[in-house]
Amino acid sequence: MDAEPETGWTLDSWRSSPAAQQPSWPDEGELKRVFVQLANLPPLVFAGEARNLTRSLGMAADGRAFVLQAGDCAESFAEFSADAIRDKLKVILQMAVVLTYGAGVPVVKVGRIAGQFAKPRSSPTELVGDQTLDSFRGHMVNDDLPDRRARIPDPNRLVMAYQQSVATLNLLRAFTKGGFADLNQIHGWNQEFVASSREGRRFEDIAVGIDRALRFMDACGIDLNAEGTLHHVDFWTSHEALILDYEEALTRRDSLTGQWYDCSAHMLWVGERTRQLDGAHCEFLSGIANPIGSKVGPDAGVDDVLGLCRRLNPERVPGRLTLITRLGVDAVSERLPPLLRAVQEEGHPVVWVCDPMHGNTISAEDGRKTRRFNDIIGELRGFFRAHREVGTWPGGVHVELTGDDVTECLGGMEDIAEDQLHRRYTTTCDPRLNGRQALDLAFAVAELLRS
Ligand code: PEP
Ligand code: CO
Repeated sequence: MDAEPETGWTLDSWRSSPAAQQPSWPDEGELKRVFVQLANLPPLVFAGEARNLTRSLGMAADGRAFVLQAGDCAESFAEFSADAIRDKLKVILQMAVVLTYGAGVPVVKVGRIAGQFAKPRSSPTELVGDQTLDSFRGHMVNDDLPDRRARIPDPNRLVMAYQQSVATLNLLRAFTKGGFADLNQIHGWNQEFVASSREGRRFEDIAVGIDRALRFMDACGIDLNAEGTLHHVDFWTSHEALILDYEEALTRRDSLTGQWYDCSAHMLWVGERTRQLDGAHCEFLSGIANPIGSKVGPDAGVDDVLGLCRRLNPERVPGRLTLITRLGVDAVSERLPPLLRAVQEEGHPVVWVCDPMHGNTISAEDGRKTRRFNDIIGELRGFFRAHREVGTWPGGVHVELTGDDVTECLGGMEDIAEDQLHRRYTTTCDPRLNGRQALDLAFAVAELLRS
């Protein structure tokens, strides 16, 4: 295969670098067979779409847009239904309207969806009840059932993940272009949310403000029913590019530009555990032309962050690189400003997004992973404060949520307590915000954006 002239990158050059977090597939022959099968299947997304997303993210890099990236920690093969996808999309669209009002700029809507099936794990084994099992690594790799055999990686799951992604994306495209994303309807849902509880009424002024804006447009003679942009939205897909066999198999050369695009999603990111500058994941992402991201955790210093900018966006294309900080409520105020300053001084265009979830994971007494809603809001506050202090644009938020009425994160409007977590704790990996907590967060972020 021809190497790219400047960098020597090829589709499989990642194979010469250490690849963290890859499954030990029991049968290499089976993996190769699956790889060929995937490489011959149609792309999920198209290069032109990925380029459009880069352009939108480019606006977020220089303060003219705000990003909302949201979805499950890990999508599930077991809990897959049109209703669940609709309900998740509904919450994300509701949040986006609130954020658009708060930010006063377009909101770029990116799902952690249609491909978010692989999980990095801190430990190769986990204790389930009294058994020590190989860790669950996402339904793209193995099953989460508490059974030794279920945990054996099976490459056929890569194809199942592809197929579920196809069906998911098909629904998302239908919902977002077929009338479900109508602004008046979304606003109506938000009004119900605000009216339905005492806590919701805290956000009444924002809801009233949106209402006024809609009536103002109507009074100016803008026919809200005829205006296409008020019924359709662009909704993009993203996931952590973890299992590099899957990503390589779905990467295709664009016939228009000759560039390589990973057609498994519009945007891909490297996680906190796989962002090593000399590792296989950065090598792979460096050569694809999609917009890409990297998580930035509390151990990342100025050198790491500048290294990511130089390695992943040497041409300094605005929108190419999103840095998703997940520092934790206690570290954000101290750790974030030096990173922002260093990147600003070197002049790298970066979309700065706050993931207030992964730095705030704690264990409840019953051993379940959870997060306190107040810690999540606390990290967001620190994020906005740091950007204000340095003079950079707080470009977006990245959250784990579901439309279902789960009890996985503590606090929020219904004030979920530790002894209630077991009631509806259905996540296959990290604890997610439920629909009400997610909206509560969006209104809180809108207030932060306006202040
Ligand atoms: C995740 O986004 O689910 C995740 C594992 O995050 P991180 O890489 O930041 O730990
Ligand atoms: Co997670």
